Amino acid sequence: MQDLWTQVDRYFSDLLIPPDAALDAALAANRNAELPAIDVTPLQGKFLELLLRISGARRVLEIGTLGGYSTMWLARALPDGGQIVTLELVPHHAEIARINLRNAGIANVDLHVGPALETLQALVANGAAPFDFIFIDADKSGYPEYLEWSLKLSRPGTAIVADNVVRDGKVIEPDNTDPNIQGVRRFTELVAAEPRLSATVLQTVASKGYDGFALAVVLR
Ligand code: SAH
Ligand code: DHB
Ligand code: MG
Repeated sequence: MQDLWTQVDRYFSDLLIPPDAALDAALAANRNAELPAIDVTPLQGKFLELLLRISGARRVLEIGTLGGYSTMWLARALPDGGQIVTLELVPHHAEIARINLRNAGIANVDLHVGPALETLQALVANGAAPFDFIFIDADKSGYPEYLEWSLKLSRPGTAIVADNVVRDGKVIEPDNTDPNIQGVRRFTELVAAEPRLSATVLQTVASKGYDGFALAVVLR
C-alpha cells in the first residue's frame, strides 16, 4: 500500500502545491545535513497552514522544530505581526532550522534550543501570552507533559494539533513497551479526560506512511 499512498500524495501535491524554492531548499538542506526525514509531508504542511488561516492564528507555538520545514508552513499563514515560538532539543537541528528560515526570509520565529519541557516551564514562569495555535511534534514520550504545559499556555479557542498519534496503528497496543507508543496513548487519554478540551483524531496515509493528527480545541 505504501507505494500507492506515495503516488496519491504526489498526485495531489502536484495539483495543489506549486514548487516553492524556499520549502524545497529547506528539505534539501535537511537531507544534506543528515537530519532524519521526519518532517511533515508537503500536503500535511499545507493542512497546518490552512488550519492556521481558518483559525486566524497570530501567536503559534511549535514543539519540535527539526529543520524548520513545518515551521515554514506555519509561518506562511501568519499575518503581519504574527509570531512563532518553536522549541528544539538538538543544537544541530536548530542550527539548520535557523539557516533555512533565514534563507526563506522568515524573521518572526523565536527558536529556543533545549528540552521543550524546560522551555515550556520558562514560558509559563515568565508570563508568556497565550498561544492561538499549538503544534506538538517533538519526542512522542513527552506528549503527555507537552499537553499539560500547552494548556497553561492556552486560552478558550486555542487549537492544539499533535502529530504522529497513530504510529502505524501501534497506538492500539496497550502492552507495547515503546515509550513513543505509551506517550501517544497517554496523551489521548489525558485529552479524553480533560473537560476543557474537545478533540478528534484524523488518521492519515501519506508518502511517509500510516499515521495521524490529533486536533483539540480549548473550550474554556
Ligand atoms: N516539526 C518538524 C519535525 C519535528 S521531528 C517538521 O515537521 O518539520 C521531532 C523533533 O523534536 C526533532 O528535531 C527532535 O530533535 C526534537 N525533540 C526531541 N526531543 C525533544 C525535546 N525533549 N525537546 C524539544 N525537542 C525535542
Ligand atoms: C517520528 C517523529 C515525527 O515527528 C514524525 O513525523 C515521524 C516519525 C519518529 O520519531 O519516529
Ligand atoms: Mg511529526
